[in-house]
Amino acid sequence: MKQPSKIAPPSGKLAVLLPGLGAVATTTIAGAMLARRGLAEPIGSLTQCGTIRLGKRTEERTPLIREFLPLAGMDQLTFGGWDIFPDNAYEAAKHAKVLEDRHLEPIRDELSDVSPMAGVFFPEYVKRLNGTHVKTGTDKADLVEQIRQDIRDFLKTKGCDRAVAVWCGSTEIYIEPSDVHQSVAAFEKGLKRGDAGISNSQIYAWACIKEGVPFANGAPNLTVDFPAAHELAREHGVAIAGKDFKTGQTLMKTIMAPGFKARMLGVRGWFSTNILGNRDGEVLDDPDSFKTKEMSKLGALDYILQPKLYPTLYGDLYHKVRINYYPPRGDSKEGWDNIDLFGWLGYEMQIKVDFLCRDSILAAPIVLDVALLLDLAQRAGVSGIQEWLSFYFKSPMTAPDLYPEHDLFIQSTKLKNTMRWLMGEQSITHLGHEYYD
Ligand SMILES: NC(=O)c1ccc[n+]([C@@H]2O[C@H](COP(=O)([O-])OP(=O)(O)OC[C@H]3O[C@@H](n4cnc5c(N)ncnc54)[C@H](O)[C@@H]3O)[C@@H](O)[C@H]2O)c1
Repeated sequence: MKQPSKIAPPSGKLAVLLPGLGAVATTTIAGAMLARRGLAEPIGSLTQCGTIRLGKRTEERTPLIREFLPLAGMDQLTFGGWDIFPDNAYEAAKHAKVLEDRHLEPIRDELSDVSPMAGVFFPEYVKRLNGTHVKTGTDKADLVEQIRQDIRDFLKTKGCDRAVAVWCGSTEIYIEPSDVHQSVAAFEKGLKRGDAGISNSQIYAWACIKEGVPFANGAPNLTVDFPAAHELAREHGVAIAGKDFKTGQTLMKTIMAPGFKARMLGVRGWFSTNILGNRDGEVLDDPDSFKTKEMSKLGALDYILQPKLYPTLYGDLYHKVRINYYPPRGDSKEGWDNIDLFGWLGYEMQIKVDFLCRDSILAAPIVLDVALLLDLAQRAGVSGIQEWLSFYFKSPMTAPDLYPEHDLFIQSTKLKNTMRWLMGEQSITHLGHEYYD
């Protein structure tokens, strides 16, 4: 990746296109609308609340990230998206029951103006939903063209200069990459013949990349993480990122596990279970969609703890993840973790975590940050997989043959050093020997 010599300014309006206007998307949109009117704080968003240290500790240069980076401002964002149900963002937010009326009513008109474009939906990829607001097309290639046309029409009617897309749609069934995913040519042929390996989300991603729209994937689906999509993104000079927003339980895991490893504490078992009752939970109640989520959630510990390097400490780790759909809880998830760890001479200990979290409240700032940072990457001319955005994802996308970095603290260092690098500032190594010369 080449260091940018200059970054195009964030002039004009940025369209933030969200396929899947459900709980996460509407919570993001409402939050941004409230924050820009000064009616609520965008807590959890690094781009809005975070600072970045530049230079030596003695220099006392610590600007706000949003003042350091040439990011699009909240006032410049125009939200849109697609869904397989026709509810506008106000109706969808009411249905999702994440935000209270005190937050929805002041922006009711603005939210109601965000109406989803008809979605691309083959039900075999999300078995628990029966969409009614869907496109028809001669084949999957035709549907790619229809999404491309939607993007052009949206930019034109809303007077936007450019767009960025973040998949906030439902989790699809587990799909292994197959021959159709290996090259642009194979994928294009697969679109024509309606290859079963090409799911709904892949159709959106393909269309966005071809339109030059940076694309991030918030779900664990394959979507944009296969060789053909990487190749297409490089060809078109488009930034891509994913996958699966790192929110509740996995966020806690990637905070705690690096600590155990740093102190050389052994872990024998990690049992994680969740109850949640939103539409996401309903979709994940289908074993095929759960498999996609399970694969995404299981990866983190192995990569952080490195059992091959530390067989005595982590070689026998038993890691289990369960998700249970439990309607009374709605979006307020409860995630329990039981961690069996051991210390000096092998003596056993236990930690119990009971995280009563709010899924979409944790996911919304990620959507905002990822949209703004992907747009920045695009304007800086750094295309292809944006591994520095791993900080935001459960299952980070990397170059082939490179293992993903899951440790939240390494991810945070990488993220901030990339911000410095983009702006021509020195990386910070934390070595600091010069303070003692
Ligand atoms: N909330 C979190 O903490 C979190 C964390 C990680 C990942 N995710 C993922 O984010 C996604 C969104 O979560 P949510 O809680 O908002 O779910 P949700 O069910 O409330 O919203 C998903 C929306 O996607 C729509 N949809 C499904 N297929 C579509 C298609 N082909 N085209 C257009 N729209 C489509 C659904 O109709 C629904 O409105 C899920 O895949 C979820 O697994 C969420």
